[in-house]
Amino acid sequence: MQFIDLKAQYCALKTEIDHNIQTVLDTGVFIGGPYVKELESKLAAFVGRKHCITCANGTDALQIAYMVAGIGAGDAVFCPDMTFISSTEPAKMFGATPVFCDITQDTYCLCTESLERQIQAVLAEGKLTPKAVVAVDILGNPCDYDAITAICEQYGLLLIEDAAQSFGADYHGKKCCAFGQIATTSFFPAKPLGCYGDGGAIFTDDDELADVMRSICVHGKGPGGKYDNIRVGVNSRLDAIQAAILLTKLKALAEHEITARQVVAKRYSQAFEGKLKTPFVAENCVSIWAQYALLAADTAQRDRIVAHLVAMNIPNMIYYPTPQHALPVFQNEPHYAETFPNANDYCARTFSLPMHPYLSEAEQQRVINAVLEVL
Ligand SMILES: Cc1ncc(COP(=O)(O)O)c(C=O)c1O
Repeated sequence: MQFIDLKAQYCALKTEIDHNIQTVLDTGVFIGGPYVKELESKLAAFVGRKHCITCANGTDALQIAYMVAGIGAGDAVFCPDMTFISSTEPAKMFGATPVFCDITQDTYCLCTESLERQIQAVLAEGKLTPKAVVAVDILGNPCDYDAITAICEQYGLLLIEDAAQSFGADYHGKKCCAFGQIATTSFFPAKPLGCYGDGGAIFTDDDELADVMRSICVHGKGPGGKYDNIRVGVNSRLDAIQAAILLTKLKALAEHEITARQVVAKRYSQAFEGKLKTPFVAENCVSIWAQYALLAADTAQRDRIVAHLVAMNIPNMIYYPTPQHALPVFQNEPHYAETFPNANDYCARTFSLPMHPYLSEAEQQRVINAVLEVL
């Protein structure tokens, strides 16, 4: 059994993926070209954005978003305490201060009460300029964008949606990647929409931001092309082969994988309801279930379940064992008004089970039985 079965997905989509890869090989256009263009326009249409700029990975996508926002020394960037480091790392890289906010007890996404407390604390101290919020749709579950957008508008903050885990999810009838001035995603193989290597994308409705981000992706190219460098940029692009693969996978996601993921998640939730803390998806939202994470009663019980799964050869993961504020790299960052009770509690109790759209009912039952045996 695989935690995320990419081979099963490849078997299901093999004919078209092989054909697309062969076409790239035949044409010899490996960078840019028609597949990249077609993918950008289909991704933008899928999430309902004006612009999509593909790039080398989800980390670059976030770094480019920070760069176009001009985030630097003296700025505060508000981020959830429970995320992968790519969301928060660029703050430190560009000399700004990541200000961690607690997560909610139900969705595990950014807690808006904590966000407001942290903004107020930064303002009261008077040393940093509140600049941006990075909202992360953790585990594939969308943040509360109505509330977060209102806070960003109230305090004049740029909103960046980190949708690395949530491509295909919905919030109030809109797709993830549609929120904030800029949204970013990742096509890392294990993501809900993954390629066969690294890949990422940036979304915006703003023409000017889109132009600057396209320029940053190609060493700050100007109107005269890639040797007319008008700003500091990076080299970040999605390969044509990856774009060709993603076109097939995007179709599969839309046509049946989103639904198949809901079926798998529902089976788990029905099996564990009342026995472990099962995931919560807010009303009028659809999670894409990048992970199916449960909370045990405490760390000891979590560790017993994990040990039993390992003994039974059932893959499992902990996303994530350590909240951002407790990572060694961030040990000197100020905590302002927060003690992060929810993020600490989540990290101490969480574990994730095999989750992908090709998981058979029989395989899933084996996972469920193994967890229930411990309980
Ligand atoms: C929340 C989040 N943001 C950003 C990234 C970075 O994506 P990539 O691995 O493509 O750089 C990840 C990847 O795991 C992620 O989970």
